[in-house]
Amino acid sequence: MQLKVLALPGDGIGTEVTAEGLRVLRHVAKKFNHELVLTEGLLGGIAIHKTGTPYPAETERLALEADATIMGAFGLPEFDNAPPAMRPEKGLLGIRKTLGVFANLRPVKAYDALIDASPLKNHLLTGVDMIIVRELTGGLYYGTPRGISGEGDEERGTNTMTYTRAEIARVTRMAFNLARKRKKKVTSVDKSNVLETSQLWRKVVVEIAPEFPDVQLDHLLVDNAAMQLVLKPAQFDVLLMENMFGDILSDEGSVITGSIGMLPSASVGAQRPSGAWVGLYEPVHGSAPDIAGKGIANPLGAIGSIAAMFEYTFGLIEEATAVNTAMEATLNAGITTKDLKGNSSTEQVGRAICEAIG
Ligand code: NAD
Ligand code: IPM
Ligand code: MN
Repeated sequence: MQLKVLALPGDGIGTEVTAEGLRVLRHVAKKFNHELVLTEGLLGGIAIHKTGTPYPAETERLALEADATIMGAFGLPEFDNAPPAMRPEKGLLGIRKTLGVFANLRPVKAYDALIDASPLKNHLLTGVDMIIVRELTGGLYYGTPRGISGEGDEERGTNTMTYTRAEIARVTRMAFNLARKRKKKVTSVDKSNVLETSQLWRKVVVEIAPEFPDVQLDHLLVDNAAMQLVLKPAQFDVLLMENMFGDILSDEGSVITGSIGMLPSASVGAQRPSGAWVGLYEPVHGSAPDIAGKGIANPLGAIGSIAAMFEYTFGLIEEATAVNTAMEATLNAGITTKDLKGNSSTEQVGRAICEAIG
């Protein structure tokens, strides 16, 4: 099979973890006799440096041409005081919108080998295997009006949280379809005791649920959900929520597994006639300026994102399983980075995974 992949490594540890993701991608493509057509592009801070904009038109063109895009992370401290529209992160928001990837799937799974790396007590981790379905192209991140206006005491910052029925319905169906292949339970998270957007969210989710009579639905307010995640994480199967709630709760969820560096993600939207998902694959973590350049970043989120790419965009389940199995084997062998209390480098972990794949 031909695999047309665009890589956007980005900034900070984004380049370091993407290098290992690509090492695994090349290795698996070779082993399973696929033709890999790999291009590399600019997004984020590096794109601002080289082209003056975080989301160059050329990158947009490349992304639309590729079957799948793998990304690192975006953000540099030198842009910390720049307005949102001029920041590296704007590139990320732009490409998500271009590709229409409205559902961001963030799996949180406890590995036996990492039970002591988790900040939670060991017994709470038994059976933790959930997936956060985060709405990705709507809500506060994109709503208008937005901006800062006025002066003095009247200076005002504005963002708008807005959702249409159609936006809620499509991500809800995505969550229910996923639940069908798992433990058949959806927990929808909202703030319907305060926000109108959440009231509409809950109403639409409830209306859609009968299309999936085999899936159990319940609801949690977001503040309680934040607590339940650390109190009893094994209770969850599929967690469905809007964009910003998903951003926040997925960082909380990630560390249950030992480190934010562990969490992969798949952002999917339209399905091609072949059934393949148009996909954007990225680890959940950021560019981590505090450890960038040291060669110690955990590449498993990036490598797990390659496994997700095989599964969702290319429908190559055997290849995806090979990557996931090899990741677990290296964890069991104690080949881990510092965040997981190991002493291997980013590159050593990537190479070990290729070796385990065989
Ligand atoms: P971060 O995720 O970059 O880092 C948070 C903490 O986790 C840091 O201590 C970091 O060292 C650690 N960490 C993150 N990834 C790790 C990995 N793979 N291995 C080991 N440790 C890891 O979040 P932040 O510090 O809040 O943000 C830094 C920059 O990254 C900001 O500019 C932010 O906007 C950006 N960011 C980008 C993305 C993305 O591109 N998807 C995601 C989150 C943050
Ligand atoms: C993430 C990141 C991004 C987000 C930022 C960098 C725009 O935190 O992917 O979780 O908030 O979506
Ligand atoms: Mn985030």
